[in-house]
Amino acid sequence: MASTTLICETEPWMDLKAHVEDIKPTHLRNLMNDTERCKSMMVETDGILVDYSRQQASQKTMEKLFNLAKAAHLKEKIDRMSNGELINITENRSVLHMALRAPKDKVICSRGVNVVPDVWSVLDKIKAFSEKIRSGLWVGATGKVLKDVVAVGIGGSFLGPLFVHTALQTDPEASECAKGHQLRFLANVDPIDYARSITGLNPETTLVVIVSKTFTTRETMLNARTMREWIKNELGSDAVSKHMVAVSTNIKLVKDFGIDPNNIFGFWDWVGGRYSVCSAVGVLPLSLQYGFSVVRNFLDGASSIDEHFCSAPYEKNLPVILGLLSVWNSTFLGYSSRAILPYSQALEKFAPHIQQVSMESNGKGVTIDGIKLPFEAGEIDFGEPGTNGQHSFYQLIHQGRVIPCDFIGVMKSQHPISLKDELVCNHDELMSNFFAQPDALAYGKTSEQLLADNVANDLIPHKTFSGNRPSLSILLPSLGAYNIGQLLAIYEHRVAVQGFIWGINSFDQWGVELGKSLASQVTLQLSKSRKEKTPVEGFNYSTTTLLTKFLK
Ligand code: F6P
Repeated sequence: MASTTLICETEPWMDLKAHVEDIKPTHLRNLMNDTERCKSMMVETDGILVDYSRQQASQKTMEKLFNLAKAAHLKEKIDRMSNGELINITENRSVLHMALRAPKDKVICSRGVNVVPDVWSVLDKIKAFSEKIRSGLWVGATGKVLKDVVAVGIGGSFLGPLFVHTALQTDPEASECAKGHQLRFLANVDPIDYARSITGLNPETTLVVIVSKTFTTRETMLNARTMREWIKNELGSDAVSKHMVAVSTNIKLVKDFGIDPNNIFGFWDWVGGRYSVCSAVGVLPLSLQYGFSVVRNFLDGASSIDEHFCSAPYEKNLPVILGLLSVWNSTFLGYSSRAILPYSQALEKFAPHIQQVSMESNGKGVTIDGIKLPFEAGEIDFGEPGTNGQHSFYQLIHQGRVIPCDFIGVMKSQHPISLKDELVCNHDELMSNFFAQPDALAYGKTSEQLLADNVANDLIPHKTFSGNRPSLSILLPSLGAYNIGQLLAIYEHRVAVQGFIWGINSFDQWGVELGKSLASQVTLQLSKSRKEKTPVEGFNYSTTTLLTKFLK
């Protein structure tokens, strides 16, 4: 909703600003003593429990945040997004990643046209194609079954599919379906990534999927040409049509590249790159690896959260609550980072994916109307699975800077191990950390407690933990495809909520353009200097010196 009033000029914003002074002196130790408060800070939907009682927030804070949501017209903005209005105004596009996982009978329009039938027709095409490849009905140029897939793409055309693939790999149902198949990714233009992606692969059994919304991204196009060369050199020029397919919105460029138009899996301009894992971008490579029905479960999980997000009142709405708390932490309390800490190795690629979803979406300097923001939007996301992270950066989280943490745990392990002589099973050992860390952060350890523990005086300052460090806990029932879809959608919508509150456009990414165009100028210079042996010119002293040394 275009509005000239900045959110920071509204009453609820001022009210929250003043409220910071009420909250800051209240230690989480005390807040945690209020059972009624804690009870009110647990929300559950479709098997997922979120406990945000360890946030530096009272019930009053939440009321004020919900008032802020009203002032920001959050509900109207969610409705405008789900109704296909052109809310990405700098690109004049709808933002409809929810349509990618919508049930068949749902009507979602962009520019007056229901997009759901198009979505389902691409899904049907992927289902048929992946079944043909997996069953061996479609074979490679030398008659061999294509059991290996290399997905070539970067950014949103890589990180989401990599996250879901990594998460599904250890799911018993999914891994059973993946037997005999292999999925790899090639993202970086660094030739090392190319070398890694093809090491040990036989081109005769490999299908290359070029994934690029624009089909112009320089890294992806160079990698695509390199893969095409590999196929041609090993199997001959005619093999390309059997061994290369594409996912893109740019049908013309895909055809020009030499891929058979029948083997293009389309999507639409209303799918943002970082929100595209539920389009053919993710669905095709994942279906080739796991079969379509596993991927359908993933889409259904995401869809269940979409329904919840669009219909639940603010007080019960997981993405709304999480988004508002992130605004509270980053904008009002001044904690500009957020750690994403899944206690599940299967989620090791979750934080890298959310980094793009969050930071490319909300790392903006102006409002949606182009007015310079008088506050900082976006936050710095990073993370690692626990317990590995505990032995890496948790020192800083416990005694250094205050970094709000998302602890993500899973109730049932997919690979339970119980050794005979151990106190607990391996998953309980892992989850003990998941349950303990939030309290360590919230309560800390006082000098009085250390004294009582007979800690030597000179060590007391070093061993004291101030506590009062906010976190929230997300408990998933399991980590099947459905739950992975739920988790993805919760974070996607949380990021949108933050952007809607800040009043920015979370769906464009102009900030990545400048670096790209400067890199093109450098490429031209490198090519010229190498071919014509000309000196570097047109750059500043620093870049000229570096380039000259590099060329030597
Ligand atoms: O990094 C910028 C970006 O445009 C991302 O938003 C996008 O996910 C990525 O590049 C890849 O783009 P494409 O799918 O068009 O190759």
